[in-house]
Amino acid sequence: MTLEEIITTRRSVRKFTDEPVSKEEILRLLDMARWAPYASPCWRFVVIEEPERKEEVAQAARQGWIATAAVVIVVGADTQDFSKAHAWRWDAYKRRGLFYIQDTAAAIQNLMLAAVDMGLGTCWIGSFNEGDVAKIVGLSARVRPVALIPVGHPAEPQQKATRGPLEEIVFWENYEPPKTATD
Ligand SMILES: Cc1cc2nc3c(=O)[nH]c(=O)nc-3n(C[C@H](O)[C@H](O)[C@H](O)COP(=O)(O)O)c2cc1C
Repeated sequence: MTLEEIITTRRSVRKFTDEPVSKEEILRLLDMARWAPYASPCWRFVVIEEPERKEEVAQAARQGWIATAAVVIVVGADTQDFSKAHAWRWDAYKRRGLFYIQDTAAAIQNLMLAAVDMGLGTCWIGSFNEGDVAKIVGLSARVRPVALIPVGHPAEPQQKATRGPLEEIVFWENYEPPKTATD
């Protein structure tokens, strides 16, 4: 697959077969994740394979289907790991509270695209009870769970996605808000 095919065919997968995902495949996904750009390598990945543990995180997200994935990866960010090496300047320091979110998001996207390349399905889960998930996998107070990523073999072929016109979101030089009836 070309990169463009991988990007445009990736869809959120919420139905999985029973086929397992190997440890090698999981490690490959996580290796690909860490090649993302980062301000600080703050990502922490907790891999859940135990059925009861998967059920617990699925309940913490109130999305029962998550437990049907072969594996659920909890992506956490060590919020104190603002790498000394990357404390380039004051502006970076002031904005560091946004960095761990960007660092983990970039890593998650890498992981999800690598999954497509490997014939695996994933879904980005951002809606869950943070305290419950932290407790289930034993995260310390400084590590914030950012997302859950169920991973498995898709049970059905994915529909091609659509996206709206680029003109609605792309602006050259200045942002031009859409005209309203009162303009
Ligand atoms: C930050 C974030 C949070 C999300 N949370 C959830 C979620 O809790 N449950 C879910 O089923 N999908 C969740 N999604 C997946 C989106 O619903 C999905 O990516 C979007 O509808 C576009 O569809 P596609 O991924 O198939 O292109 C989330 C995606 C992102 C980026």
